[in-house]
Amino acid sequence: MNTRATGTRDAAASRPSRQINVVLRSHEPTPAAGSPPESGAARSLPANGPWSEWQKELDRMVGLDNVKELVYEIYALLQIAHYRGDAGLHSQAHVYHMIFKGNPGTGKTTVARLLAKLFQGMGLLAKGHLVEVERADLVGEYIGHTAQKTRDLVKKALGGVLFVDEAYSLARGGEKDFGKEAIDTLVKAMEDYKNQFVLILAGYTMEIDMFMLTNPGLPSRFPIQMEFPDYSVDQLVQIAEGMARERDYVLLPQSVFKLRQLVLQEKNEAIFHFSNARYVRNVLERAIRNQAVRLLQQYPAESPGRQELVGLRPEDLRQASVAAGTPQGATGAGAPS
Ligand SMILES: Nc1ncnc2c1ncn2[C@@H]1O[C@H](COP(=O)(O)OP(=O)(O)O)[C@@H](O)[C@H]1O
Ligand SMILES: [Mg+2]
Repeated sequence: MNTRATGTRDAAASRPSRQINVVLRSHEPTPAAGSPPESGAARSLPANGPWSEWQKELDRMVGLDNVKELVYEIYALLQIAHYRGDAGLHSQAHVYHMIFKGNPGTGKTTVARLLAKLFQGMGLLAKGHLVEVERADLVGEYIGHTAQKTRDLVKKALGGVLFVDEAYSLARGGEKDFGKEAIDTLVKAMEDYKNQFVLILAGYTMEIDMFMLTNPGLPSRFPIQMEFPDYSVDQLVQIAEGMARERDYVLLPQSVFKLRQLVLQEKNEAIFHFSNARYVRNVLERAIRNQAVRLLQQYPAESPGRQELVGLRPEDLRQASVAAGTPQGATGAGAPS
């Protein structure tokens, strides 16, 4: 599977211009300033115009080139739809429901949140919020309960994105399971509230693929598929350094070396449950706690000074999976982040 938006190009027609109620007009109209972007190269696009806002957010994310390209395609589609509407050209509603495939901690929720804001900024969605749910939020305990719970969550998501993590778990119990009722209710809501919310189904690649295969009515309803690959060790280190920087901490060079070792070890030991960027976030947050305890021991009655406050030492970095209570063998749903 690749990350192309199947069907987006030929359906690249615009939607009724009344839907584009937020007009973003900072685009330079002159050909010189607005020279066409190289195809798909989201990262090398001119950093002006409405796109720059989203590009800044995307640039903060390490890797994910294919996802970034696809987000740019969606932006381009919306912007051109707007121009087409203005020019009185034929408009046709486009479907933006999506499938996100990838292991835990590969950025799915983060990108979904960004897309919600993009859709809002481009006038497609009124609010641009993200409602993240999993099976337990949708499925009830008696007949009719599930439909009600699911409908309530769809209502909460109107004007934004409804993000269903581990979507396939709704199909697990078979025909008699209430999960099926949740799927049916979601499908009905997609008809009833067309264009009022975007539904994103997310989860492990293999499970999602199986889910789509066994529910033949579904794939055509989700024309956009994004694949979130595992990060390399280098990328994970880069992500950790960025996270540290955001929090006003610095990983000393020996600490980077230690982090690399921890990541390699965890990758080997938790092959099927390695949680990518979430893992390094846990290591980092744990290191911050360890550093605090270490500093208070070293400096019981005075401030350790700026340099000490900022530096995370190798001894602060420890394995954060089992010891820190991160669910092992977790399904990846865990705490929504
Ligand atoms: N490419 C990336 N660059 C920087 N941080 C990232 C990246 N991908 C994920 N993260 C961070 O890792 C954490 C987990 O990401 P998340 O979007 O919740 O993953 P998923 O939904 O796939 O489980 C978040 O704190 C997120 O900001
Ligand atoms: Mg998530």
